Amino acid sequence: MHNSPEFPMLSAIVDDLATQGWSQQAHFLPAALVAALATECRRRAAEGQLNPAGVGRGAAQEVREAIRGDHILWLEPGESDVCDQYLTAMDDLRQAINQGLYLGIEDYECHFALYPPGAFYRRHLDRFRDDDRRAVSAVFYLNPDWQPGDGGELRMFLGDERTHDVQPTAGTLVVFLSAEMPHEVLVAGRERLSLTGWFRRRGNEPF
Ligand code: OGA
Ligand code: MN
Repeated sequence: MHNSPEFPMLSAIVDDLATQGWSQQAHFLPAALVAALATECRRRAAEGQLNPAGVGRGAAQEVREAIRGDHILWLEPGESDVCDQYLTAMDDLRQAINQGLYLGIEDYECHFALYPPGAFYRRHLDRFRDDDRRAVSAVFYLNPDWQPGDGGELRMFLGDERTHDVQPTAGTLVVFLSAEMPHEVLVAGRERLSLTGWFRRRGNEPF
């Protein structure tokens, strides 16, 4: 099976990160794998494996639906074939980023996210105040036939009052520098599925 992203796409992502700090790619993975990942996310949600996401980290973490209303499940290697294929693709991207940008990324953490209708995620940065290991964020969308009226766009704040909106359409990958890109998720009018993850540098755990 050739489910890994092709070299030209990986190198386009690295070039975009270097020149503008973000990249958007349609059709990052084959449609069959995207559909299988959506099925896996829905199956695990139906089994009650997804939980309301928290805000903050460590002991200070709390659920605050006025800030974010998604439900998440962290991925571990070896749990399912489709998730492992996704982790392999992201490891290919990790290597391309390290070769092109010298960020020294060591690991990757990633969760399924399900936004029920009406959920959103207020404007934020992905880097925690007390932990600067998250270097690059990557969000991969799993929603077939997303329509403009469905809402749920990822809005990135590019500076100088410029914004860029991304529809969470199945197969689209968005990558951006975690410390530099404020972003939000607009209210989703229908269920919205994604795989959201972070490439992390080595660093000291604060506690
Ligand atoms: C996040 C996030 C964006 C999206 O989970 O931190 O900003 O489009 N997600 O799902
Ligand atoms: Mn975020």
